[in-house]
Amino acid sequence: MKALILSGGKGTRLRPLTYTGAKQLVPVANKPILWYGIEGIVAAGITDIGIVISPETGEEVKAKTGDGSRFGAKITYILQSEPAGLAHAVKVARPFLGDSPFIMYLGDNLIENSLDPFLEIFQKQKLDGLILLRPVVNPSAFGVAKVDENGRVLQLVEKPKVPPSNLALVGIYFFAPTIHEAIDQIQPSPRGELEITDAIQQLINQKKQVEACNLEGWWLDTGKKDDLLSANQIILDSRIVASSELKVESTSQIIGRVQIGEGTEIINSTVRGPVVIGENSRIENCFVGPYSSIGDRVTMIDADIEHSVILQGAKIIGIHQRIVDSVIGQRAQLINAPARPKALRFMIGDDSQIEL
Ligand code: TTP
Repeated sequence: MKALILSGGKGTRLRPLTYTGAKQLVPVANKPILWYGIEGIVAAGITDIGIVISPETGEEVKAKTGDGSRFGAKITYILQSEPAGLAHAVKVARPFLGDSPFIMYLGDNLIENSLDPFLEIFQKQKLDGLILLRPVVNPSAFGVAKVDENGRVLQLVEKPKVPPSNLALVGIYFFAPTIHEAIDQIQPSPRGELEITDAIQQLINQKKQVEACNLEGWWLDTGKKDDLLSANQIILDSRIVASSELKVESTSQIIGRVQIGEGTEIINSTVRGPVVIGENSRIENCFVGPYSSIGDRVTMIDADIEHSVILQGAKIIGIHQRIVDSVIGQRAQLINAPARPKALRFMIGDDSQIEL
């Protein structure tokens, strides 16, 4: 059994962060989203992992993630020259996959559950495909499945205007090598992509064994800002334990589960967990409220934040209104200019969003 993680794509919904970086490397609780997927796959006993990368962000993914040794895995990088669809990514990865069955995992998805029970069903029942489903309120934004009462999949449609059910396809799939023939038989969809839903539909039409399991725990597709903030909240809630020794100045107060990296100074501030703060950051005269993740080398002086993600190198200085539900990109600066209290000055990247 191998694994194929898709870490290419365009990441348009997470602009402007994705102009300068891969969406799969955006941190959730200060760890790249992609790494949660790798860890889940390794925990299921699969260590031969291919990662599909794009020409734009591939080098960054490679440099950050490495050869897999840090996860106890062997990672092979596979370049997809253009984001021509999920099934196209499988096609490009075929030399890596060979005749092996595999898990396909979308690199911006996070799930609570272990993969073990699904892997067991897939292997025991010798299925051609196993998909995971989850009821959602807005099925039109997803691939949607219609299943019979035994869990057998009858029909799959990509982002349907009139959804046949409320069951969305989670971005984790299990495939036998028969998927390659199915992919060879499909054509690009109206949006110009080779769709994995069309390939699975092809398997179903050929009476191959395709089944579905309901995913009970949480599932997050971190492709958009609010999903990213929810993922951050859930991971901080469920996986953060307090650092055992926290050295902070006596003028500061640390309450609840808080992790603070090496070299970070917390001066005259209150940090109320769950919160994670990276290395070599400076937090001075601040309130850092629950569900905040602050990266490495961040400077925050005279500021209040809560339920926000601050990426490395950002500076937030002299902002006295509380900052909530925000994502601040790498090296971004949010600075109050006291000399001209009635004027605002900006240098804001394309697709940024400011709510004053
Ligand atoms: P999507 O989120 O469906 O697509 P996207 O990354 O282009 O994002 P957006 O819709 O915001 O523009 O992709 C799901 C995952 O699969 C994501 O991790 C990117 C990856 N992917 C590829 O590796 N190759 C592809 O051709 C596509 C379409 C996606």
